[in-house]
Amino acid sequence: SGASPMQLKINGTMRTIQAEPRVTLLDALREHLDLTGTKKGCDHGQCGACTVHVDGRRINSCLTLAVMNQGKEITTIEGLAKGDALHPMQEAFIKHDGFQCGYCTPGQIMSGVACVKEGHATTDGQAREWMSGNICRCGAYPNILAAVREVEQ
Ligand code: FES
Repeated sequence: SGASPMQLKINGTMRTIQAEPRVTLLDALREHLDLTGTKKGCDHGQCGACTVHVDGRRINSCLTLAVMNQGKEITTIEGLAKGDALHPMQEAFIKHDGFQCGYCTPGQIMSGVACVKEGHATTDGQAREWMSGNICRCGAYPNILAAVREVEQ
């Protein structure tokens, strides 16, 4: 096969995988590194379930090739908690029931963290707009918004 070694820095740790150059970052995480917290919904940039941070900015990991992300800092939902301490966004999602089935939740939380960090959560309208790329089929949007806004305030 055309698999070759690739080095990815994920949640602060260098990992080496053998993968073909066409492998997406999403598939590298889930299938090569067993980091299955990042979800595959549409695999076409439409749902946000695969949201991770690369160099601090959110991206849809289904839309980028793993090989393009060598030398960058990749953060997944698994890297958010510090030991036993959940990230404030994770705490806020629990407090506000920001999920039902939970499938979209890792992506929602990664987007929420970026939303606050990049200053887009100062009003309901802005936060709703910023979070609009993350689809929740259960319709938990009001609770998701409440969680994101609480972390901002
Ligand atoms: Fe990447 Fe839907 S799986 S946006």
